[in-house]
Amino acid sequence: MSNVCVVGLQWGDEGKGKIIDILAEEYDLIVRYQGGSNAGHTIVINDSKFVFHLIPSGILHAGKQCVIGNGVVLDPAQFLKELNELERHNIPTADRLFISDRAHLVFPYHKILDLMSETEKGDNKIGTTGRGIGPCYADKMSRRGIRVGELYHPAYLKTKLREVVGEKNRVLRDLHNADTLSWEEIYAEYMEYAEAIRPFVCDTVVLINEAVKKSRRILFEGAQGTMLDVDFGTYPYITSSNSSACGVSSGTGVSPRHIHSVFGVMKAYTTRVGSGPFPTEMGENHGEVVRERGAEFGATTGRPRRCGWFDAVAVRHAVTINGADSAVLTKLDVLDREETIKVCVGYKADGNRTYDTFPSDLALLPDLEPVYEKISGWLEDTSGVTEEDKLPKQARAYVRFLEKLLGLKITMVSVGPERSQAVRISNECK
Ligand code: GDP
Ligand code: IMO
Ligand code: MG
Repeated sequence: MSNVCVVGLQWGDEGKGKIIDILAEEYDLIVRYQGGSNAGHTIVINDSKFVFHLIPSGILHAGKQCVIGNGVVLDPAQFLKELNELERHNIPTADRLFISDRAHLVFPYHKILDLMSETEKGDNKIGTTGRGIGPCYADKMSRRGIRVGELYHPAYLKTKLREVVGEKNRVLRDLHNADTLSWEEIYAEYMEYAEAIRPFVCDTVVLINEAVKKSRRILFEGAQGTMLDVDFGTYPYITSSNSSACGVSSGTGVSPRHIHSVFGVMKAYTTRVGSGPFPTEMGENHGEVVRERGAEFGATTGRPRRCGWFDAVAVRHAVTINGADSAVLTKLDVLDREETIKVCVGYKADGNRTYDTFPSDLALLPDLEPVYEKISGWLEDTSGVTEEDKLPKQARAYVRFLEKLLGLKITMVSVGPERSQAVRISNECK
């Protein structure tokens, strides 16, 4: 039986939501293992558009179980918003949506400190989503975090909140000269959330491992992308979790022995939201064109995404880290009108030194010059294509070119936001 991890191979927003929705059909459980409401996973079905920040992207399939694992940081207000949206669409959640009692909670002070830290950094800001992710994970690691399960021990929670909010208030007042918070108000607010989310909370380690024992099929849903991974991304311009497949075990309690394959999601070009190195970033004019064609605006913050050419060095790094064996290439249609498509195959520094692996040295990155190979575009509309042999010849050549460069099988191509706009690639038309 095969459990798969679906993971972004670039800087996030590769179209994971759409692909997970398609793949979910073949799985029994869909499990988020890291990140929080910084994620924005879009699914379009006919005229309905859903954007999930916390709820796994399999929820639209009746009968599938969806789990928010222990590695996720949970903002209960955001969770309840998404739950309301599902109810509005008459999508049932009872007995099929679960929250780990070990997941850490995002509190208002996390969001305030996230924004303050960004303001203080000025020009060097990370460009976070402001969802409190970094400060919440920092509290988890420094053993200051509060977990979902603690909501159901009011006396214990009160003591802990009083202590933690006291500490945060000292930081707010003394370091930032900002207003302080009332632990009593936060306590009252979170006690309401506790009741509202109670039906969903359980020991998901037991739940998922029972499913493993019964050979039920599990899809682990990555958020963000490998280049935003806290260990393997462009540190410190990253998010604060292991967004690569490396996070699955620690974020779910499932042994690595039970993760059988890793499926990558990558765009036919590259985007990035927020600051940080981006070697293949396009110039402003071309970037603007691709942004408009690809509707490249953040699903969580609405910010314009920076656009660039496909970076095979970065993706190869991601393929290695994840051990990805196959992948989907999304947003191919966005390149339909490009006469020439550029792909970065290496970097040059100091005039002659070349890199074909992604350097860890951030100081070096701004000086790297991408080495491009150019490929002719197909100049045809692919958005209506549903069969492999109807893809323009040059589009198939682009897919083949990337497969070869990356040492990876591309088994699906996405040509539009809608669930049905996907082409399975059997590789028979080569
Ligand atoms: P995720 O975070 O990886 O799930 O990706 P997002 O949902 O943040 O961003 C992907 C955006 O591209 C969404 O607006 C999707 O509806 C859209 N999208 C996904 N696949 C395709 C595609 O193949 N072509 C086009 N044009 N849009 C797509
Ligand atoms: P999905 O799952 C793209 C980026 C932010 C910022 C950095 C740190 O939709 O692909 P954070 O709020 O996490 O502390 O911000 O990470 N970022 C994302 N970029 N897609 C995402 O998620 C992202 N989640 C965080 O823009 O640069
Ligand atoms: Mg997104």
